[in-house]
Amino acid sequence: MHLSTTIENCIARRQQLASQLAPGIVIIPTSKELARNADTTYPFRFDSSFYYLTGFNEPDAVFVQIIGENTVQNILFCRPKDEEREIWDGFRYGPSAAADTFGFDIAYSLDDIDSKMVELLKNQPRIYYPLAKEMRWDRQINRWLSSVRALVRTGINAPDTIVDVRTVLDEMRLIKSDFEVGILRKAGLINAQAHIRAMQFTQPGQFEYQVEAEILHDYYRQGCRAPAYNSIVASGSNACVLHYGENHAQMRDGELLLIDAGCELHGYASDITRTFPVNGRFSGEQKAVYDITLAAQYAALEQCKPGNTWNAPHDAATQVLAQGMIDLGLLKGSLAEVLETESYRQFYMHRTGHWMGLDVHDVGAYKVDGQWRQLKAGMVLTVEPGFYIRPAANVPSAFENIGIRIEDDVLINETSHENLTASCPKTVAEIEATMAG
Ligand code: GLY
Ligand code: MN
Ligand code: MN
Repeated sequence: MHLSTTIENCIARRQQLASQLAPGIVIIPTSKELARNADTTYPFRFDSSFYYLTGFNEPDAVFVQIIGENTVQNILFCRPKDEEREIWDGFRYGPSAAADTFGFDIAYSLDDIDSKMVELLKNQPRIYYPLAKEMRWDRQINRWLSSVRALVRTGINAPDTIVDVRTVLDEMRLIKSDFEVGILRKAGLINAQAHIRAMQFTQPGQFEYQVEAEILHDYYRQGCRAPAYNSIVASGSNACVLHYGENHAQMRDGELLLIDAGCELHGYASDITRTFPVNGRFSGEQKAVYDITLAAQYAALEQCKPGNTWNAPHDAATQVLAQGMIDLGLLKGSLAEVLETESYRQFYMHRTGHWMGLDVHDVGAYKVDGQWRQLKAGMVLTVEPGFYIRPAANVPSAFENIGIRIEDDVLINETSHENLTASCPKTVAEIEATMAG
């Protein structure tokens, strides 16, 4: 992907943001590099909103936008050029090249940020920034604001309103452009291939981390430099731990393996879960629970269309799962009673999805004016029902420790949806054939 295409998109988003805000100053910082230990750092990951507006991938930078009645100025603060540091740590743009390359009206060195920000804040009516996201930025903005307030007797006005910029920005990020959909589609394909590789590799006696290595290998090989979140490779009873991440168990014949793993491509996530038998063949009980979960996922997918509410897929999946729990003899009572008392939560305790984009759990409100919002073309969400059977008095031993989740990523389009991860095998027959191959 060409940097220039990314930047064109970022410039359009800056204009779109400004057009939705009353005059004032927007301040959006990126992340900092985090120490892992001693002199080593975690791999740097930009702040998603900062990157969405700038395309700039260096730590510690700050995006500033000055919105006047009829003018917009886009400013970047970034690390200065530094020959010595660049010998050790690599290239950095520096303000001048960063402004040219990334389409800013002007860029300044971070060394000057305190004095420049006080200048920029003078006489601004309001500040837009991600309020209460990071304490250090709340404090920093308060410090700059106090410096401006100290000048009021010279006739300078300080901003008197702080607005959370996310109210507008998150709604922009919620609706994906064709450019973003192209990346998400490709991430979905890469991720599906990695899950297929995992299915074909898995055998009794291997360790969960060996399967994880196969998945990460496929991500890296295809240009995804990081997973979008920590991979869950959970065999046997570990599959009933929703956020299991140790991935250190030896896999045994007869167990299921639940893999929830996603790659990140150009900043965008993919998020697939597949569950399959370690030995390549589902047992009768495993198949029964699997097919109920799959039917729940199909029912949820059917609800993924414009005009339906956010909650419709969850309600559809929950109904199918609850009926399945009754049919298997795990729960007593009628479907209405099980739904009313939420007794199904013993085996299905999470929701059926989340928005997905630059963040795997992406931004955007789920309710508007107190009501579940309507699905709309351009929204991307996951559909991920699960069925987790921990040992309990009402659980026959044959069902104990079966844990299943099936997760795909879906783009809402004008008429229904596109499954971005459809190329990953999902039915019992498809999975068994893939593993046999
Ligand atoms: N892997 C995170 C999720 O599925 O929500
Ligand atoms: Mn997932
Ligand atoms: Mn998910």
